[in-house]
Amino acid sequence: MKIKNIIFNFLCNLVKRKNPDELISQSQKAGLAKSLTAIDLIILGIGAIVGSGIFAVVGIAAAGGAQSPGAGPALVISMIVAAFACVFSALCYSEFAAMIPVAGGAYTYTFATLGEFGAWMVGWVLMLEYAIGFIAVACAWSNHFIQLLKGFSSFLPAWAANPPVWLVNDVKTATKILTDNGIDPATVLPTIGTIPFAINVPAIVIILITTLILVRGTKDSTKMAGIMVAVKLAVIGLFVFVGMFYVKPANWVPFAPNGVEGIFAGAFLIFFAYIGFDALATTAEETKNPQKDLPIGIIGSLLMTTVIYVSVALVLTGIYPTSGNVSAEFLKAPMAYVMSMVGQNWAAGLISIGSLAGLTSVLLVLELASTRILYAMSRDNFISRRFQVLHPKFKTPHVLTWTVAVICILGTLTLDLNVAAELCNFGTFTSFIIVCVAVLILRKTDPKRYRPFKVPFSPWFPLAGIVCCVFLMVMKFQEQSDSALLFPLWLLIGIVIYATYGYKKNRIIEENAAQNLEAEKTKIGV
Ligand code: ALA
Repeated sequence: MKIKNIIFNFLCNLVKRKNPDELISQSQKAGLAKSLTAIDLIILGIGAIVGSGIFAVVGIAAAGGAQSPGAGPALVISMIVAAFACVFSALCYSEFAAMIPVAGGAYTYTFATLGEFGAWMVGWVLMLEYAIGFIAVACAWSNHFIQLLKGFSSFLPAWAANPPVWLVNDVKTATKILTDNGIDPATVLPTIGTIPFAINVPAIVIILITTLILVRGTKDSTKMAGIMVAVKLAVIGLFVFVGMFYVKPANWVPFAPNGVEGIFAGAFLIFFAYIGFDALATTAEETKNPQKDLPIGIIGSLLMTTVIYVSVALVLTGIYPTSGNVSAEFLKAPMAYVMSMVGQNWAAGLISIGSLAGLTSVLLVLELASTRILYAMSRDNFISRRFQVLHPKFKTPHVLTWTVAVICILGTLTLDLNVAAELCNFGTFTSFIIVCVAVLILRKTDPKRYRPFKVPFSPWFPLAGIVCCVFLMVMKFQEQSDSALLFPLWLLIGIVIYATYGYKKNRIIEENAAQNLEAEKTKIGV
């Protein structure tokens, strides 16, 4: 009987939900500055979305030769498929963000629907999307920066134009580059004891810069993001307007060299290019009029990026034949490569600079989102409350922001870019699925709650979101990549941390609160 009670209490604690009203009132006490408007959100959204996906991954997604599983000219269809997978989830995010405008995004929505354990796991999974995604984009930034330096090699000293491989890569990538070039890594890589190491200096420097900007304040960071969004949209516009004069319709034939499979393979890859719109929901507490502005920001930025991506795909595949084997340079930086190919080197140089700006704005938003989720998790006692300390002048969670920066710097030393990007995709699929499920649950459990924005055609749209994301995840699992093994391991580590810290801490706090209440009652003689 006693064991039965213990198990019953344990299960009740796991599904202990937060009332949305309680969440809103908690957030009103938090004191984060409310400075963001709908325009700021669209800028932040495009800043978060348009990055390494369109500047780099697009080449791999397009490569439709016998050796590469991509879509070929049908990349444009892959982009629309990936956008569909996002749009249903974006609508669900908008319903929640307008209804419960508090920090934490999917994490907070899960607390209101699935309870304590579900919320912790979603927060933990979102760290894959934002913090591990942040590491992936920092590594991509480093690669683009090195490419740019190479472009200026005639003006730079040799050490800057061609830096040592162990100073611009993680250890795994450095080992691979050396081995591919027939060099024994042991003769080049420095060691600590017997363990070889590498330090990705450009990635570390850009992490430090974005952290300094974010600690200075969200408004400042959106101003910075605004400038970078303008620069990257300008270079993408330049690519489309200069490039369209070089389009040869013959390059669009055959349209789908790898058939439907190629289109889906392209869609899985290019999904990474859409990640980021959900980050807007995590800034709800800092938005002036969240009920109206958040749905406009989320859906607006997703629609705008879809139009941009489709235009880029049409021009890119129209200039360069992707229905065959493509060059390695095309895979690294496709837009700049095709511009040089048609003799427009000035445009290629500007595109390289623009892609650095694009990646920087993605970094700002991903770091902002990861700190805001951890902030909400610290408020819920899943991690130490010390992380809630706000900067006395800038009112930003500076201790937390620096902690995230240090962890990500350690990540750049060990984590391979591809694995980081795939893990980021897994985290995103999971959070999208849970938000769609959460919308359906809250519509049943709390139908009367005021919803300033409602997902149309519910339950069909949320169900379509779930089906799209589950399908994409299952396809990824079938690839049996490193990330498909690491993702379950990440979940397991999350369960262990919850069991050993978050669960216990919350019970201690509840017990103390109950004792204090008893003491109060005794004092006033109730
Ligand atoms: N969507 C982001 C990018 O493409 C993650 O870099």
